[in-house]
Amino acid sequence: MDIAVAITGASGTAYGMRLAEELAKAGNKLEIVVSDGAKKVMDYELEGGAKKAIVRLRKFGKVYDENDMSADCASGSSAPDAFIVCPCSMKTLSDIANGYSKNLVRRGAEVALKEGKKLVLVPREMPFTAIQLENMLKLARLGVVIMPPQPAFYSKPKKIDDAVDFVVGKIMDVIGVKNSLYARWQE
Ligand SMILES: Cc1cc2nc3c(=O)[nH]c(=O)nc-3n(C[C@H](O)[C@H](O)[C@H](O)COP(=O)(O)O)c2cc1C
Repeated sequence: MDIAVAITGASGTAYGMRLAEELAKAGNKLEIVVSDGAKKVMDYELEGGAKKAIVRLRKFGKVYDENDMSADCASGSSAPDAFIVCPCSMKTLSDIANGYSKNLVRRGAEVALKEGKKLVLVPREMPFTAIQLENMLKLARLGVVIMPPQPAFYSKPKKIDDAVDFVVGKIMDVIGVKNSLYARWQE
């Protein structure tokens, strides 16, 4: 499959990193968009910060800045099969819900919506406001998959990587990419 992974400035940039890695490993062709907000969060969350993260992401696909509209995912005629925003900040969620396609992340999501492609958002905030919940409901009613990163405990995670893999495995399930990243119920 052709897949775009957009990493935005919500906590949990490790989810986006691991998702890109696993999707590439499974043989998918990737475009990866890293927002300016994501770069700031990566500097806090990831060993070696955004610079090292982007070097790593280049192993998995072509990496784009948020203002680079030359990516295939920016155009309806070359839209990927799936567009995944992981993690998705509340700012990006709001812009997508309101059709404000200011940068490549928002534009890619808009293209996926208009072309009837799979659009998956992994929104991270705690707690959610009613406005954020309304934005999610609006998009869910349009067929967008809304999946906040919530690892289950029945798979008995022993380290953070296990919890990350659970979420990434669930995202891959949703777009139909086989994986064995987490122990399934009664496995
Ligand atoms: C360390 C850090 C953690 C953040 N965590 C979140 C978060 O979990 N959810 C969120 O919506 N915004 C979070 N933010 C704020 C966003 O990064 C900010 O709103 C940014 O402008 C989002 O831009 P983007 O959606 O274009 O990436 C965080 C910011 C920083 C610096």
